[in-house]
Amino acid sequence: MSMNHTFEEKSIQYEKSLDEVYKKNNGIFYTDIELASSIVDFLNIPKNASIIDPCCGTGSFIYTLLSLGYENVYGCDFDSKTVIKCKNLTGSKNIKKMDTLGLDGETILKKLNHTKFDYVVGNPPYAPLGKEVALNAEEDFVANVKNSGANLFVAAIYRAFEMTKVLSHLFCQKIFYIYRLING
Ligand SMILES: C[S@@+](CC[C@H](N)C(=O)[O-])C[C@H]1O[C@@H](n2cnc3c(N)ncnc32)[C@H](O)[C@@H]1O
Repeated sequence: MSMNHTFEEKSIQYEKSLDEVYKKNNGIFYTDIELASSIVDFLNIPKNASIIDPCCGTGSFIYTLLSLGYENVYGCDFDSKTVIKCKNLTGSKNIKKMDTLGLDGETILKKLNHTKFDYVVGNPPYAPLGKEVALNAEEDFVANVKNSGANLFVAAIYRAFEMTKVLSHLFCQKIFYIYRLING
C-alpha cells in the first residue's frame, strides 16, 4: 500500500499535532485508509454517484474515493486548518470549511451549490454533548439530538438524513462495525 503510505503518515502526524482536549471535545479520530477502503468497497457505490463526507477530517474517505476513480466527491469540516490539510493531502478543491452539524441540510447544500447527495459516507465525530461539547444548531434540532442520545454522532446522522436522497445510503464507521458484529 505504498500509494497510501504518504497520506496515512501525514494524516497521523497531523492528528498527533492536535491538542488532546480539543480532539476529545470535537470527536476527532481519523479513519485509516484500510477501513475507509473496506467501507467504500462494501457500499459498492456507482462510479457516477455524488458523495459527501460532511466531517471529512484529513480526508481518508475523500482520498480513498478519488483513488478509486470517483469524481463527484465533496468534503467539509468545521476546522479551517484541517480543511487546508485535507485539500493538500487529497488534492481536491471540493473541500469546504463548514459546521455541518450546526447548519441544517438545506443550508449546507445551498452553500455547496449542490442538490441532495446520493451517498453520505464518513466517520462522524463521537462526543457526548455537555459543557465542553456544544452543538450550535436550531433549538428543535438540539432538543431532538438531546432526546436521542445527546451526542455529536447523533447530530451527524440526522444531518446526513437531510442531505441525502435515500436514507439507506447513509453509512458510517460505527454502523459498519455494528453490521460486522451482526454478520460476522
Ligand atoms: C471522527 S473524525 C473523522 C474524520 C474523517 N471523516 C475520517 O474518517 O477520517 C470527525 C471529524 O469531524 C469534524 N467535526 C467535528 N465537529 C464538526 C462540525 N460541527 N462540523 C463539521 N465537522 C466537524 C472534526 O474536525 C473531525 O475531523
